Amino acid sequence: MNTLTIIGSQWGDEGKGKIADMLSEDADWVVRYNGGPNAGHTVVDDTGEFKFHHLPSASLHEDCRVLLGPGMVINPIGLVEELDQLQEKRAIEPDIFLGARAHVITPYHPVVEVLEKAKEEVGTTGRGIGPTYEDKAARSGFRINDLFRSDFEDRFRDRLEKLKERWDDPSDLDRIEEDRFFDVVDRLRDMVSEAKIVNSSPVLNKAIDEGKSVIFEGAQGTLLDIDFGTYPYVTSSNPTVGGIGTGAGVSPTRVERRIGVVKAYTTRVGKGPMPTEDEGDLGERLRDNGDEYGATTGRPRRCGPLDLVGLKFALDLNDMTEIALTKLDVLSGFDEIKVASHYMKDGEKITEFPSTAEELSECEPSYITFEGWDEDISHASSLEDLPSEAQGYVDFLEKELDVPISIVSIGKKRSQTIMVD
Ligand code: IMP
Repeated sequence: MNTLTIIGSQWGDEGKGKIADMLSEDADWVVRYNGGPNAGHTVVDDTGEFKFHHLPSASLHEDCRVLLGPGMVINPIGLVEELDQLQEKRAIEPDIFLGARAHVITPYHPVVEVLEKAKEEVGTTGRGIGPTYEDKAARSGFRINDLFRSDFEDRFRDRLEKLKERWDDPSDLDRIEEDRFFDVVDRLRDMVSEAKIVNSSPVLNKAIDEGKSVIFEGAQGTLLDIDFGTYPYVTSSNPTVGGIGTGAGVSPTRVERRIGVVKAYTTRVGKGPMPTEDEGDLGERLRDNGDEYGATTGRPRRCGPLDLVGLKFALDLNDMTEIALTKLDVLSGFDEIKVASHYMKDGEKITEFPSTAEELSECEPSYITFEGWDEDISHASSLEDLPSEAQGYVDFLEKELDVPISIVSIGKKRSQTIMVD
């Protein structure tokens, strides 16, 4: 099969980067379709360590074309830094294409995010993601193709002046270094020529027609989706399969394999309800064992047991064809492992993920408990190598979620991955 997508099935940070890196080794195209530099992953290879926020990990693979799709929001300053990193450490010019319609995060967007208090109230990453999507919806944003127009600087200055009228004290907006931003835009124009600013829909559909392998890499996770997540504690885009249609210009019906990445426990960073959050020892141990700190902001992640109610919702919403189960090794050493099978609310059993954050916050998880295992499982090469308790956990999840588990990740390295036949 030539087309596949990798989508987070929880609240982000499921370990999509490693799975995407492995599956994109021979890909012709890797496409991001949602979000922007709120995503973050560190990729390590023999030439060093790379921190990417816009670029997918496949940017390190020779002969792979990377497209930052029109559903994304792109910060020229951050993107130029990432491209510089690649050239310095790797001496390669990645084959980067940008969707002409993608929106531009300018230096005023993160400032507006602070002025609007979204950073505090939603616990956003502070990267200006929300305000850039707001401008998109208000039809007052800049798109990537605008950066190539001769009147861009004048339009930018006009927009900034208008924006200052919105606040009594716009002094933070006064501090924006316009000329520095224009210099970076110039550099981006040199690094990514106009020929690579593309209309993604015909480009990708043609690639698929020609039998090329195309991977769509989702950022964040299903439960952070602006429409189907725990609104308002969500991101501003669609990380879900529908986002491929609107954010890359390719119908989701063309994407044959839809891989839901599922972490073996739950984490969330930022605010919003999380029924299985454990603020005691269990949560702390998961955070320590799993190194659960935000890749973009460094914030400690909230941790707790797996939540089957949220997971079933996410797997159905995306019609996942398979699951990549990640970080199973983090569960080694626990006497018992809990999994929330359903919620209770006002004495009633809830099996369907509620559609409002208020309702979700009133739900109490009901757990089933499994025996844990002590062994270090990070060297297993097949499911049969796992202790029987870990095998039992994987079997249970596959049956209960009713989606085949095709990949089990048991460590950071590529070699620490079980590909299930
Ligand atoms: P924003 O995307 O910066 O607007 O943040 C909105 C919410 O999404 C906050 O709760 C963030 O912590 C969360 N979020 C955004 N990007 C990621 C991610 O890549 N992983 C996990 N959470 C994220």
